[in-house]
Amino acid sequence: MVKSDGPIGVFDSGLGGLTVLRSLKEAFPNEGFVYLGDTARLPYGNKSPSTLKLYVEQNIKWLESQGAKAIIVACNSASTVLTNIETEIPVFGVIEPGAKFALAMTENQSIGVIGTRATIQKKAYVDAIHRLSGHTKVFQQACPLLVSLVEEGWDEDPITNLIVYRYLSPLVAAGVDTLILGCTHYPVLRNAIQKVMGRHVNLIESSQPMLETLNLAFRSGKLKARDENLGEPDMHICATDISDSFTALAQRILAPIRIPPIERIDL
Ligand code: DGL
Repeated sequence: MVKSDGPIGVFDSGLGGLTVLRSLKEAFPNEGFVYLGDTARLPYGNKSPSTLKLYVEQNIKWLESQGAKAIIVACNSASTVLTNIETEIPVFGVIEPGAKFALAMTENQSIGVIGTRATIQKKAYVDAIHRLSGHTKVFQQACPLLVSLVEEGWDEDPITNLIVYRYLSPLVAAGVDTLILGCTHYPVLRNAIQKVMGRHVNLIESSQPMLETLNLAFRSGKLKARDENLGEPDMHICATDISDSFTALAQRILAPIRIPPIERIDL
């Protein structure tokens, strides 16, 4: 049976998924949300597929135990290992929706993808795009340093601009007109990325395609909207480890949405 009353569960390795949560909360203000940042085990982007799968299963189990009616995997690295995961509620990863969205945007059939090593090595977006359109060219680049820069709060730093330039130059040279930000941390660096790529390049964040996917799920009945008469929905932000910088950055990413104190949980 499709549940309607529980919150929507969202998880990421850390703060990055809050960029997705923010868009979801704005688009679906009457839905409750429970967010899990697995900060104690961050980064996910350099883990092997078998370790990632174990983490994903544990995160899903925990969110299910919180009564979640659906789960959004707001982490590209984790979304690469979703096959054969057994759940009673719908689980939505970010890769397929992102690939579809990028294909709808590209005019020159040249798409760039940036992500963690896990996402790039798995060729998750390349395969997803080629399943839909065999002739589209896809250029990918792993950018492992970017997650640390975001977690450090260095999004407006000259050093970050230099590192972004170093990573993205090959994609500029390849002439892509659409770039998938294949890691939910990267929207925080959107300005630096857009500056290097040029204003004419479409930047695709995981949150835009995920909104479309959820809208579709509500329309098709795969998900049921929460009853409006139930009053203000809850928003819980939980993490497996909490530091002062985590809380400050979480507030910055989610602003103007005010967040309750972050709860530390054990998986
Ligand atoms: N935000 C995660 C993603 O979308 C990666 C961060 C990490 O390496 O833990 O892939």
